[in-house]
Amino acid sequence: MGSKTSTVSSVLCCPCRCLFCGVLSCLFSVLTCIFVVAGLVALVLYLLFRPHIIRVSAVSADLSDFTLTPQTWILRYNLSLGLQVRNPNKHIALHYHGVVAQAHYEGQQFGHTAPPDFFQDTGVTSPLDLAFAGESPIVGGIAAAGFRREAAEGAIFSVDVKISSHMKLKVWVLRVLGPKTKIDCPLRLQRRDAAHGQRPPEFKQTECRVTFF
Ligand SMILES: *[C@@H]1O[C@H](CO)[C@@H](O)[C@H](O)[C@H]1NC(C)=O
Repeated sequence: MGSKTSTVSSVLCCPCRCLFCGVLSCLFSVLTCIFVVAGLVALVLYLLFRPHIIRVSAVSADLSDFTLTPQTWILRYNLSLGLQVRNPNKHIALHYHGVVAQAHYEGQQFGHTAPPDFFQDTGVTSPLDLAFAGESPIVGGIAAAGFRREAAEGAIFSVDVKISSHMKLKVWVLRVLGPKTKIDCPLRLQRRDAAHGQRPPEFKQTECRVTFF
């Protein structure tokens, strides 16, 4: 250990002032210094850009088929859903990737679709159209009874559409990995009598819940 080492370490420690002598404590104070600076930068960035949560609403829906076969309890479904996704941030553009949408009835998943990745500039509202069509078994008498009840009460069904997406945030030229986003849309859907050429019934715009994790 010469005076050279202590000069180097005191230069390194300079911004934070090495209170104790010795390389270890200096290393410690340098690390502390880095953490404090990184924390301050993060705080300043956060205050500057203050991320706002995205807003999602379901604006149109067409449930042209939603039938439960008796005995086998196979649910045949055809649902198209139009969503509006709003990015209220002035400085943060968003890139959605790995988007997955699932439709649930009585707590059971019946439909699944994976819309393409999309980019959303600052302050922009983007349409997100989902289509679910196919057949899926429904398990349990309670779910089937729920279906019969809703079918009898004007064929308005409570369907939950859940969407999850990974996100990348873009601030100027900076790209950082964002949180995973979960969107939950509890819908009340009037089944359309497609066989009789009925037009899609009016759909009441519904706000979806958005959470990050
Ligand atoms: C679902 O409904 C739409 C609109 O009525 C129709 O164009 C489409 O062919 C249907 N899809 C299936 C798989 O039945």
